[in-house]
Amino acid sequence: MVKQIAILGSTGSIGKNALEVIDALGAGYQVVALSAHTSVRLLADQARRYRPGFLAVTDADYARHLGELVADLDVEILAGPDALVKIAQLDQVDVVLAAVVGAAGLPALLAAGRRGKRLAIANKEPLVIAGELLREETQKHGGIILPVDSEHSAVFQAMQSGTREEVKRIILTASGGPFRQATAEELQDVTAEQALSHPVWNMGPKITVDSATMMNKAFEIIEARWLFDIPVDKVEVLIHPESIVHSLVEFVDGSTIAQLGEPDMRLPIQYALTYPARVAGIAKELRLEEIGKLTFAKPDFQTFRSLSLAYKVAQTGGTAPVVFNAANEAAVEEFLAGRIKFVRIVELIEHCLDKHNIKTRVSLEELLEADAWARRKVTELAPRV
Ligand SMILES: NC(=O)c1ccc[n+]([C@@H]2O[C@H](COP(=O)([O-])OP(=O)(O)OC[C@H]3O[C@@H](n4cnc5c(N)ncnc54)[C@H](OP(=O)(O)O)[C@@H]3O)[C@@H](O)[C@H]2O)c1
Repeated sequence: MVKQIAILGSTGSIGKNALEVIDALGAGYQVVALSAHTSVRLLADQARRYRPGFLAVTDADYARHLGELVADLDVEILAGPDALVKIAQLDQVDVVLAAVVGAAGLPALLAAGRRGKRLAIANKEPLVIAGELLREETQKHGGIILPVDSEHSAVFQAMQSGTREEVKRIILTASGGPFRQATAEELQDVTAEQALSHPVWNMGPKITVDSATMMNKAFEIIEARWLFDIPVDKVEVLIHPESIVHSLVEFVDGSTIAQLGEPDMRLPIQYALTYPARVAGIAKELRLEEIGKLTFAKPDFQTFRSLSLAYKVAQTGGTAPVVFNAANEAAVEEFLAGRIKFVRIVELIEHCLDKHNIKTRVSLEELLEADAWARRKVTELAPRV
């Protein structure tokens, strides 16, 4: 049977890699829907190449322009805040590959989970802010979540060696980003250009900055907590600059199972599409003899306070992870626009967490309110904190 795929965020780094994987997988996989935010020219090119039945964009003006670009194609264009939800819910869609950046992907993921789809999730922010809800709703409706984040894909694979009760700890590896060896003082004058040059991975701008602050790893700690339904104190981080060991799971008997591969997102994307099967793919082959040495170190929790914050936020729960994520999204935007210094990103997040009146046992509406509050707070405080 042909697997029908909707890619939310097909014009981004993960989205483009996913299309390469689908190309290589061939006849058994078909693209039925694609989406973009503003990159309508690229979306039109992708539509011409993959002939999906549906395209989604977030804004009506962009949709008009897109309509002109694909006027000769038989494709339906959806626009507006609900466009992603609509394509994620389409009856013919089997797999929703979530490659949107930020919390914006949450409503569509939740809608797809409630339709019992396979969710191949790269878009980690919705898992950070509503991971429990997403997992429970998806399971309840017969769907499945397959992580695309390379670390969580590794953990997912290693987990198959035992039961959840037999897991002693999950060890997420981290490249450490461009400032792995920097002191707190050296971080003071980091420019956007420096923060955007990741030593290993070629990714979209927001996640690249998140890697530099280690907020990306902080999010991954919370993501692992919800994806694998495991207490957050059983999730640890290990710096591994070569990014070959993508993560590890230690079981109670003392065995540690790791998944290794070249740093190439096409491998976890493919696995999330073909699971439980493994098929020949286009990801680079791993030649350990060429790499020679793999190194590991403890993270520096003092310089990268984002990591300690992740544990506190996960333990607090409720609206805390929402504020943690939304404040970061807004602060990264301020940093990339040149309005705040690099070190202000984490300061602003700390400030928002301090000022926020955390609510536990919250509805989706309350989560969205907390999200909007944190974004407003960052905009208000950005020039002053
Ligand atoms: N890149 C990686 O290697 C990697 C690895 C692991 C996890 N992830 C996660 O995967 C997600 C995507 O990362 P990325 O690096 O691929 O990001 P990216 O290159 O910035 O691409 C983001 C995609 O989302 C679309 N988009 C942006 N804002 C949107 C909005 N408000 N509503 C709807 N769509 C929107 C973009 O459309 P336009 O092109 O039109 O702006 C683009 O298609 C992130 O959550 C990231 O943390 C990425």
